[in-house]
Amino acid sequence: MKQPLQFYLIADLHYFDNALGAEGEAYEARSLTDQKCIAETGAIIDSAFARLAADTQTNIILIAGDMTFNGEAASHRAMIGKLEMLRAAGKKIYMITGNHDGDNMPYAFAGEARILVEETTRAQLPGLYYEYGLRDAIAVDEQRRCYVAQVGEGVRLLGINYFLGKKNSGMEAVMDWIVEQIENANAQGELIFGMMHVPLLPGSPILAGEGDAKIKDWKDIATRLADARLPLMFTGHMHMQSVNKLTTPAGNFIFDICTGALAGGPCAMRKVTIDNNWVMRIESSTVEDFDWDKNGMTAQEYFQWRFNRKIDHEIFEYLKKLGIKKNGPIAALVRKNPLFPFAIDLVRNIFYGDQPYTRDTHEYARAMRLLAQLWPIVWAAEQTLGHKNALFRDIPALTASLIGKERKVDYNAMICLRHGSISELKNSK
Ligand SMILES: [Fe+2]
Repeated sequence: MKQPLQFYLIADLHYFDNALGAEGEAYEARSLTDQKCIAETGAIIDSAFARLAADTQTNIILIAGDMTFNGEAASHRAMIGKLEMLRAAGKKIYMITGNHDGDNMPYAFAGEARILVEETTRAQLPGLYYEYGLRDAIAVDEQRRCYVAQVGEGVRLLGINYFLGKKNSGMEAVMDWIVEQIENANAQGELIFGMMHVPLLPGSPILAGEGDAKIKDWKDIATRLADARLPLMFTGHMHMQSVNKLTTPAGNFIFDICTGALAGGPCAMRKVTIDNNWVMRIESSTVEDFDWDKNGMTAQEYFQWRFNRKIDHEIFEYLKKLGIKKNGPIAALVRKNPLFPFAIDLVRNIFYGDQPYTRDTHEYARAMRLLAQLWPIVWAAEQTLGHKNALFRDIPALTASLIGKERKVDYNAMICLRHGSISELKNSK
């Protein structure tokens, strides 16, 4: 009887080398617009890596791309130094690249200005990260350096580097090679699962129409992968904790397990165990502390504060078009309304996953009451938006699905990779 395969999965580390310049007005302005941290990333990654190193039972780590803020050469160099420390602690690392890792015209901050810094091209990345996947490949797609690695006895990882174009298009280019790899593994009776940066399936129904939230032609591609019998793809990019499943007309399935960013709330990592019967347990946890002046907040409060600040920023960017100033008297009134923080909570929870406001909660009742009070607006929105997107034909049902998942499976789940069943994994941390 062989040992179950066990590994950690993290995504979107977005490391920024502070020596490049990470303070001043330009930094503060950029920071406001993002849920992810910038200057703090070194401290967050060090905290997370210390935990990974301390778990001597789990010696494999998968990283689903976006190693750096925007592909700064200095950030990549320092990031690789951190990976080397994990390797020295006995860890085997398999990574793929993300859209932020190369060809991004990276910049740093100096006072009121952004300054361009030395970049990394996408073409340089396979060489830079050769030790973390490619070195152990049993098959390589020569053009994009996607690879298959034997991660355990009878288990293969299909690592798909980021190479996509506009609106995440271009996946077709590598599909023949991918399907061949899936068929090879299946012919040997081995389990194969994938890891790519951009989600294969939308993380929430509301994101199905959002170009950046998944690969282009996701339904066709996911169907082709599932019908070739690839049961699972790990993804990142959306900074969102989300587990989704697609079942094809032929009755095959594929799961997309998207892991939230390590660089921002909820700062999650997943521990995955796959046994001999291809039953997979996913247990998620979050970074509990990191060495940074957090103004008296806990790490999770700090991440939440940052995320809320970004949502607030986005709302007032939108309201600016209506002449409402972000720090003006109307904005102050809007912020005072108890519904405002509630609305921010709802948006943040879509990304945090395991949306808590299920039917039995006070918040669910409150949201439904609000929609009932606003019925003329809701009705008008259903009439106008429903034509373009069927989801909007029933806004209360859509809202219910967004604010509270009846079965909480974004964090801790048990999934059978042979049959496609999924259930919540209880009593895990
Ligand atoms: Fe990304």
